[in-house]
Amino acid sequence: MKSNTEKFGKTPHQPSLWTRADALKVHADDPTTTQPLVSANFPVLSNEVFIWDTMPLRDMDGNITSVDGWSVIFTLTADRHPNDPQYIDENGNYDITRDWNDRHGRAKMYYWFSRTGKDWKLGGRVMAEGVSPTVREWAGTPILLNEQGEVDLYYTAVTPGATIVKVRGRVVTTEHGVSMVGFEKVKPLFEADGKMYQTEAQNPFWGFRDPWPFRDPNDGKLYMLFEGNVAGERSSHKVGKAEIGNVPPGYEDVGNSRFQTACVGIAVARDEDGDDWEMLPPLLTAVGVNDQTERPHFVFQDGKYYLFTISHTFTYADGVTGPDGVYGFVADSLFGPYVPLNGSGLVLGNPSSQPFQTYSHCVMPNGLVTSFIDSVPTDESGTQTRIGGTEAPTVEIKIKGQQTFVVAEYDYGYIPPMLDVTLK
Ligand code: FRU
Repeated sequence: MKSNTEKFGKTPHQPSLWTRADALKVHADDPTTTQPLVSANFPVLSNEVFIWDTMPLRDMDGNITSVDGWSVIFTLTADRHPNDPQYIDENGNYDITRDWNDRHGRAKMYYWFSRTGKDWKLGGRVMAEGVSPTVREWAGTPILLNEQGEVDLYYTAVTPGATIVKVRGRVVTTEHGVSMVGFEKVKPLFEADGKMYQTEAQNPFWGFRDPWPFRDPNDGKLYMLFEGNVAGERSSHKVGKAEIGNVPPGYEDVGNSRFQTACVGIAVARDEDGDDWEMLPPLLTAVGVNDQTERPHFVFQDGKYYLFTISHTFTYADGVTGPDGVYGFVADSLFGPYVPLNGSGLVLGNPSSQPFQTYSHCVMPNGLVTSFIDSVPTDESGTQTRIGGTEAPTVEIKIKGQQTFVVAEYDYGYIPPMLDVTLK
């Protein structure tokens, strides 16, 4: 395999590495980086649909924005099938676990609104059936563009392929609620190139998704983060000294960790509207450490770039592990170098007694972290679980330099606005 310098060139930057040595510092159940236990008695947002990835409406600078006093979130959503024979087991019971596990294949973008930043009311589907060019509508970011209520929804069009796309529409409010109008013309933006970012042809398990556009507070330009894997044929990646880092004697064996090749990608817009993008080398790579760095996003605080990304236990490489949750890295400038927060990268993980209680965390600039409930044990042994498909309690973290601390917990799905825009 080519070295980073050969693959990514000398300019404009070299990716920062999340090393195996960093990951060895990840420890579940540290109370400062562990999400409080979620009770199995949680309320569900809807008995008709499952929701998971939650995407609060925001502006290009990252501020969570309400419109005319209405908070708005977008969610990946799939129908629940309690009466569909396909999901009835041999005892005549609804197999909710199988229904839930199948959700990714029928994910659609829906929106919800609220006066209180919680108790969300279902608005409906953002795009009519047939508008999106592929079967799956996967995660992305809704951006409020102006006081006319124009919204650019960046998302991932998946199956066939995986393309970062956007669709423009408008948010309309009344005294009684919110609707999304337009969202009729989906514009493909870019796909993995096989040179910096792995393609499906190079690896059928590739990841290329989850666009998160933003304006850099320092240079004012429009960029976009996304999830990727480092380019190259599956199994061809080398886990060398740089990827291993400074490990103690006995920790040099990397096993099969060459199969784990996650990265956080970045692209820069060539225009002000965000219609024309150029991919740049990844900001961060996790070769030999983890195979998925999903839904990457930033918090800009104290003149620093706090880069957050979600990851799983099952996507860790041989010899390293950590909880499902959100991980973070910090740099003084956009292109790094990034260092793992808390030494390890772990910011907010599930407790080991409830390893799947939540996922898909999004850290907002006010320190609040939203996520969804996946499954929560209902008995001591953890063999019986209750499937969520709904909003988890919001958690607050404090970010201080290179450290983070869990400090508070709020209601389910509490996503208060940071600013309100009055529509003209
Ligand atoms: C995170 C995620 C995203 C993806 C979506 C698919 O929960 O895996 O990366 O866009 O879910 O359902």
